[in-house]
Amino acid sequence: MGIKKMVDLSIVFWFVLMGSCAVSSQTCSKRSGVFTPNNTYDLNRQAMLSVLPSSVTANDGFNTTSIGQEPNKAYGLAMCIPGTETQTCSDCIMASTRRLLQNCPEETEATDWRNRESLCLVRYSNRSFYGSLNEDTMWRQYNSALDTSVNSTEFVNTWEDLMGNLIDTAASKSNPKYYAAGTKELRVSTNIHGFMQCSKDLTSWNCTECLRQNVNEYMSCCRGRQGGSIARSSCFMRWELYPFLGLFDSQASPEVPEDQANTTKKDGINISAGEIAAIVVVPTVVVTVLLALGFGFWRRRRVYQAFPRERKCFHTESVQFDFKTIEAATSNFSEANKLGAGGFGEVYKGILMNGTEVAVKRLSKTSGQGEGEFKNEVVVVAKLQHRNLVRLLGFSLQGEEKLLVYEFVPNKSLDYFLVDASKRILLDWTTRHNIIGGISRGILYLHQDSRLKIIHRDLKASNILLDADMNPKIADFGMARIFGMDQTVDNTSRVVGTFGYMPPEYVTHGQFSMKSDVYSFGVLILEIISGKKNSSFYQIDGLVNNLVTYVWRLWEDKSLPDLIDPGIKEDCNIDEVVRYIHIGLLCVQENPADRPTMSTIHQMLTTSSITLPVPLPPGFFFGNRSGTTSSSQGLEPNQSSSKSFTCSVDEATITEVNPR
Ligand SMILES: *[C@@H]1O[C@H](CO)[C@@H](O)[C@H](O)[C@H]1NC(C)=O
Ligand SMILES: *[C@@H]1O[C@H](CO)[C@@H](O)[C@H](O)[C@H]1NC(C)=O
Ligand SMILES: *[C@@H]1O[C@H](CO)[C@@H](O)[C@H](O)[C@H]1NC(C)=O
Ligand SMILES: *[C@@H]1O[C@H](CO)[C@@H](O)[C@H](O)[C@H]1NC(C)=O
Ligand SMILES: *[C@@H]1O[C@H](CO)[C@@H](O)[C@H](O)[C@H]1NC(C)=O
Ligand SMILES: *[C@@H]1O[C@H](CO)[C@@H](O)[C@H](O)[C@H]1NC(C)=O
Repeated sequence: MGIKKMVDLSIVFWFVLMGSCAVSSQTCSKRSGVFTPNNTYDLNRQAMLSVLPSSVTANDGFNTTSIGQEPNKAYGLAMCIPGTETQTCSDCIMASTRRLLQNCPEETEATDWRNRESLCLVRYSNRSFYGSLNEDTMWRQYNSALDTSVNSTEFVNTWEDLMGNLIDTAASKSNPKYYAAGTKELRVSTNIHGFMQCSKDLTSWNCTECLRQNVNEYMSCCRGRQGGSIARSSCFMRWELYPFLGLFDSQASPEVPEDQANTTKKDGINISAGEIAAIVVVPTVVVTVLLALGFGFWRRRRVYQAFPRERKCFHTESVQFDFKTIEAATSNFSEANKLGAGGFGEVYKGILMNGTEVAVKRLSKTSGQGEGEFKNEVVVVAKLQHRNLVRLLGFSLQGEEKLLVYEFVPNKSLDYFLVDASKRILLDWTTRHNIIGGISRGILYLHQDSRLKIIHRDLKASNILLDADMNPKIADFGMARIFGMDQTVDNTSRVVGTFGYMPPEYVTHGQFSMKSDVYSFGVLILEIISGKKNSSFYQIDGLVNNLVTYVWRLWEDKSLPDLIDPGIKEDCNIDEVVRYIHIGLLCVQENPADRPTMSTIHQMLTTSSITLPVPLPPGFFFGNRSGTTSSSQGLEPNQSSSKSFTCSVDEATITEVNPR
């Protein structure tokens, strides 16, 4: 796929200015129509573009201006980075409008993100686009220079925390500033500096959405890169190890002019044909997978409407494996290669021809649910990239055989460590702390930061895999649900999941939401700290005793430290662990509305100065609070302790479970 072809296909002109650390880009697309030069619309457009520079500087760096009458009205929008001097801002916008008039003589709609002497955005169209989100990537670049003394794990962690904070500030619901600049210490005398900005016409919700797309894109293009920037039509992000804007002055660090910053100097720009292709290929592959699977419910048609013709150019091969290849890689699914059983199938270790170790999930042919879940998992997981999620490398579909090929994660699951006292001892508090943090980042990504809101619905210790460094990776998305962008609660008549981790409203009413995952996460926190499985508790004296109710009793007795696994008690900061238990209790509150959101939880976990609210009694589902338990065969708690156990209960059974 040559660069020229890509350009032809999307009718996008890319202006990549190499040499200094500047990269600018312009899209002027015939897709949205052409006009006859010097017609009424053109005259309106020219008049509008000529007033933009002064309107922007007169209005604090952002302006929308439209001139003329429908249908020839010209709508314009422009902005500068906050803190840009008036003259510089005005010059930048003037240069942009000149380029637009020159390069887009007949295109009805165009965008220019200029990054030379300064940085500014100009857009125009014959339709009102104010307030609407445009996520098209205009450019992305990263510094190829790496300071190798920086620990990459710590870099990525600090980076994610900083960017999360910046999004919150820039897109705050109560007081959106539409930009944020911030610094976070990476280690003594090394800071990450970050900057984000949204077009001010957006709602705070769409501003968040746009900035999250940037953060996401970083994960796939530029992860671990110590400097770079990503620009979309509606927002912008940049990060460096040095203060690259005057806005950081509040931290009393001198501004390093862009051109002197040696980190960026060498090879600042990195938009190659491959990268441009990647921008287009990633969504296209997913689309192709969907088409190949004849998938009906795909909602985000925009993804392929934006690139209507590329579908022909890509094939599913990139993610589809030949059945024979996988058969060979797993020694014909031999018993010796079996890693375990997950929801809806068995998991085998395999080694591909090129030596890559993989985990292959073979969906059971008999399970009636298999196919739907299979497609769901492919669609959901293929789109996700996060270091706390297991990566899906591909799939194979041949007749009844449905296989999912995942990266291989060597250290088994959290479950394996928790149930066995001799293994549990290997998990010191630092490791457990890191596992809890990683799981929270993974869920946060599913809930907020990925392109879609995803609810996992089956978070449990056996679905948390551990890599060689004991970093957690969430697995098994077979039951994940993609939520529509504005949807917060859904209902299902078929409750799937694992008892012990499911919140009461899900078991009794089939209702699930992000807060269902929060509940499961709360149970995980309590299990990780206590070293006990929620399901390993039993009914004593007519009282339901599971981990959740046990912890509540300890809370009432003011004896939360009693929960802590004796194996870590010696070597941990008791106050910190008690704080984590407290957070766990907040996650398992009976009323979903009382449970914090994942982003709040993440903040509570990482910022000890945040005061935690007092919890109410938790919700649970082995029975009702007055003590009458009910358990059908499927609910026998200890069934889920040894192997991963997925139960599927229809509504009739649920009713017998004794709704509250
Ligand atoms: C914008 O222009 C295109 C063609 O140039 C035309 O098809 C479209 O109807 C116009 N839109 C509006 C809102 O006038
Ligand atoms: C548009 O008008 C300008 C100024 O009147 C003129 O110089 C130019 O040649 C015209 N362009 C076309 C395509 O008619
Ligand atoms: C754009 O600029 C014009 C002229 O200064 C002003 O009247 C208008 O209110 C501005 N609009 C916005 C959204 O800033
Ligand atoms: C966000 O942007 C989309 C796409 O432009 C628009 O349809 C939607 O109304 C916006 N949503 C909100 C909450 O502003
Ligand atoms: C990087 O930091 C992580 C977590 O702080 C640590 O576990 C790891 O050993 C460090 N790696 C190197 C190469 O120093
Ligand atoms: C950047 O260049 C300056 C001198 O121009 C030098 O002192 C400094 O060590 C360099 N920094 C890096 C990270 O290379």
